[in-house]
Amino acid sequence: MSWIREGELSLLERLSANILKAGPMPKHVAFIMDGNRRYAQKKHVERQEGHTQGFDKLAETLRWCLNLDIHEVTVYAFSIENFKRSKEEVDGLMELAKEKFLRLLDEQENLEKHGVCIRVLGDLTLLPIDLQRVIAKAVMATRSHNKCFLNVCFAYTSRHEIANAVKEMAWGVEQGLIKSGDVSEALLNQCLYTSSSPNPDLLIRTSGEVRLSDFLLWQTSHSCLVFQSVLWPEYSFWNLCEAILQYQQNYRSLQKAQDIHREGQKVQQLEADRSHVSDLLQHRGNGKPMDARARQTALINYAENREERVQRFLGALQHKRDTFFEHLTSPTAVA
Ligand code: IPE
Ligand code: IPE
Ligand code: MG
Repeated sequence: MSWIREGELSLLERLSANILKAGPMPKHVAFIMDGNRRYAQKKHVERQEGHTQGFDKLAETLRWCLNLDIHEVTVYAFSIENFKRSKEEVDGLMELAKEKFLRLLDEQENLEKHGVCIRVLGDLTLLPIDLQRVIAKAVMATRSHNKCFLNVCFAYTSRHEIANAVKEMAWGVEQGLIKSGDVSEALLNQCLYTSSSPNPDLLIRTSGEVRLSDFLLWQTSHSCLVFQSVLWPEYSFWNLCEAILQYQQNYRSLQKAQDIHREGQKVQQLEADRSHVSDLLQHRGNGKPMDARARQTALINYAENREERVQRFLGALQHKRDTFFEHLTSPTAVA
C-alpha cells in the first residue's frame, strides 16, 4: 500500500465535502491513530496485521484530507513509551516502518506530483541505525516539496521534545549564540521538532481513549480536541467529517482563545525587552535620567539585536539538524 492513495471521492462524499468547505476548515489536523491491536483482536487477525492496516488507513486518510483542502497532517505513529511493548511487537513495528519508508523512496514521483513533504519528528537516535538511515533518506528525498506536509511522529513524546528544546537553548547560551535573557516561550517554540509547522487546528484521537498520551502537549493548548470511539483501522471519511463539524461548531471560541494567546505572547516579549533595557541602562547610565525618545530607541535597538542573535542561533540549530540527516545519508554511513 502506497503513502498517498490515488482516487477521487464518491459523489456523496464530494457533495458532503463541498458543504463542509463552505464553513471554516482546519488547515492542520493531528491524529492519534489508536486502536490497531483491539481491531486485530476484533477481526481475529494477527496483531501485526492490525498495525499494517493502521498504516493503510493513514494513506486513505491523507487522500481525504487533500480532497478537503487540509494541507498539513501530523500523526502519532510510535511513542517513546511504545518501546516498552514486547520485543516481538516493537521489532514488528520497526520492520513495518522500514518497509514503508523504503516504499516511500520508490514513490518519489507520485509524492512529487502531489508536492508532499514528509517529515519525521522525534528522537531518531533511539531507533535501530538501519531504520534511521532509511528515514533520513526519505526525509531528504521530499524535503523540497511544499504543497502539503505529513509529519510522522516516531520515537516521539511531547515531554521529550520539550526537554530537548530546553537542552538546545542551553547549548545556544553555552556557545555564546544567545543570552540567557533571550530564552522565552517563543524561542522554545522555535526549538521544537514542530517549529516549521503552525499549531494543529484540530486533534483527533480514535479508539475511545480520552487522553493525549504525551502527544503535542505544547502545540495543542488551543486546538479543538475530538475523541472518537472508532478504532483507527476502521476510520471512515464520515468520521473525519464528524470531527470537522465539531471543529466548525467550536470555531469562534477557538479563534478567540488563540487571539488572546497570541496577544499575550507579544506583551510578554515587550515586557521582557523593557526589563532588560532598564537593567542595561541602570548599569551603563551615568545617573542622568533618560528621556522617553532615547528609551524608545534603546528598546528598538535591543529588540533588533535580540532578533539577530536568535536568528543566528536558529540557523546554527538547523545546521546541526541538517548535518545529522546528511551524515546518515552519506555513502560512507551506509552499511
Ligand atoms: C496504536 O494502536 C498504534 C501504536 C501505538 C503503534 P495500539 O497498538 O495502541 O492498539 P490498541 O490501542 O492497543 O488497540
Ligand atoms: C499512543 O497510543 C501512541 C500512538 C498512537 C502511537 P498508545 O496506545 O501507546 O497510548 P496509551 O498507552 O494507551 O496511553
Ligand atoms: Mg493504544
